[in-house]
Amino acid sequence: MLRIEWTTQEPPAGPTRARIVPLTARFTFDAIEARFGRAVRKTLESAPFRGKPGEKFALYREVDGDLEPLCFLGVGDNLGRAEDLRRTAHDAARHVEGLGVHELVLDLQHEDLGIGVKGAELGSLIVQGLELGTYAYSRFLSDPKPHPLEAAVVWSSDAAAAEGITRGRIIAQAIAEARDLGNGPAELVTPTHLAKTAESIVDSLRGEHDVSVTILDREACKARNMGCFLGVAKGSGEPPKFIHLHYEARGQARGRIALIGKGVTFDSGGYSLKPSDGMLDMKLDMCGAAAVLASFRALVRLQVPWNVDVIVAATENMIGPHAYRLGDVLTASNGKTVEINNTDAEGRLTLADALVYAARLEPTLMIDFATLTGACVVALGPRIAGVMTDDDVLAREWLSAADRSGESMWRLPLPKDLKEQLKSKVADMRNTGERYGGALTGALFLSEFTEGRRWMHVDIAGPAMVSKPYGVHPSGASGVPVATILELLSSAELAEGTP
Ligand code: BES
Ligand code: MN
Ligand code: ZN
Repeated sequence: MLRIEWTTQEPPAGPTRARIVPLTARFTFDAIEARFGRAVRKTLESAPFRGKPGEKFALYREVDGDLEPLCFLGVGDNLGRAEDLRRTAHDAARHVEGLGVHELVLDLQHEDLGIGVKGAELGSLIVQGLELGTYAYSRFLSDPKPHPLEAAVVWSSDAAAAEGITRGRIIAQAIAEARDLGNGPAELVTPTHLAKTAESIVDSLRGEHDVSVTILDREACKARNMGCFLGVAKGSGEPPKFIHLHYEARGQARGRIALIGKGVTFDSGGYSLKPSDGMLDMKLDMCGAAAVLASFRALVRLQVPWNVDVIVAATENMIGPHAYRLGDVLTASNGKTVEINNTDAEGRLTLADALVYAARLEPTLMIDFATLTGACVVALGPRIAGVMTDDDVLAREWLSAADRSGESMWRLPLPKDLKEQLKSKVADMRNTGERYGGALTGALFLSEFTEGRRWMHVDIAGPAMVSKPYGVHPSGASGVPVATILELLSSAELAEGTP
């Protein structure tokens, strides 16, 4: 955690802290000279720096006999969007590595930055970026190098932004918690580990807040006829855990929201075994679960005006003498039967029983988050989540919340005619369709288990896992869509009625 201060006055310069100055590609040398003096102008003029996004140039300028590290950070067009603000603050924090200082001044006072967000929202985004810039998963390093940044002063004329500092911290901590769970190897982050994490989250909030946790073991799931979830779990030596967290808002709540996360702690593919390359990242197949669990802690701390249920059906998908087979028929807790034609389409099976369980809580709306299909990554690329729902109001509010959070999402259709791909001769349906449109048939399968409730499905197979770092995301688990979940639940606009 950083010490963070927000100031409208120019912070004193000094040799022990770096001043980071974002500049657009339109910056002028005259403006540089006016603010930082002739020597800095001359140096920058001879540098290759053009203000392009991601460009950096560092120098030292003399202030009252001391040398202050001064870094220019290119931002391209402007800082108009949430995404630009988070990334710029993140880059500022990252930039401090290698400068030999522990403090930075983020100077948002240069002309023409085109900052598109004001007040607490601006404060929250900048703080998120700064905090995320210091994130690293170092649990298994024998010689971890803590990030050098300890304190940051943000210089901006928007005094009201200071009100967003606490919120930004809470969101960044939730993102980091989701990343830690995702990045943990499957040998550590088992269904039991997820259940224990859920219990410790609730323990840490109890007393101050109205929260509770229920963990169903295999027997309890059997009693509830969760045949799809348990079918997937059969092949694993790790006991499955069905996790349910509840938060009761203070005062009059706007409604009840169920957040469901796919929690496959390792996806080997089962007997439809993945090739080694495709299995390599499958410890990350619980990033949906990680996101909703981490969001729970944050949404309680933020005291969102909704009653919230977080639900995770956690298991591994493995092979072995007890594993489910191709051709098996599983019966979900709503009585629907499913013929298995691909054991690698396990996420939808675990989610089927989780959705039925959620629907029986009679939520106003329910949203599931899942690293569900490679097809969604093919459709939208690795950085954009796919959003599928028939609920236009919910889709609009969600996409707008994503935009305000700096996370990328795009709506995909739910074409009912493709349900014919899921027809089975021996059961009510089968669990996979044809190759093309795999993200859509995955969502259509889930829609069979929503019991008529308002529902949205978010396929995060792309952005939850990062192979090449970008924006605020290092490689590994990104924590997407924690920021959007918290934004949506805090948003005043989210409509209550069914359209
Ligand atoms: N967890 C995978 C989806 C996935 C793939 C996430 C790549 C992230 C990166 C899921 O369980 C799966 O295996 N889906 C299959 C579905 C298919 C069998 C219909 C897939 O995408 O190939
Ligand atoms: Mn799979
Ligand atoms: Zn999977």
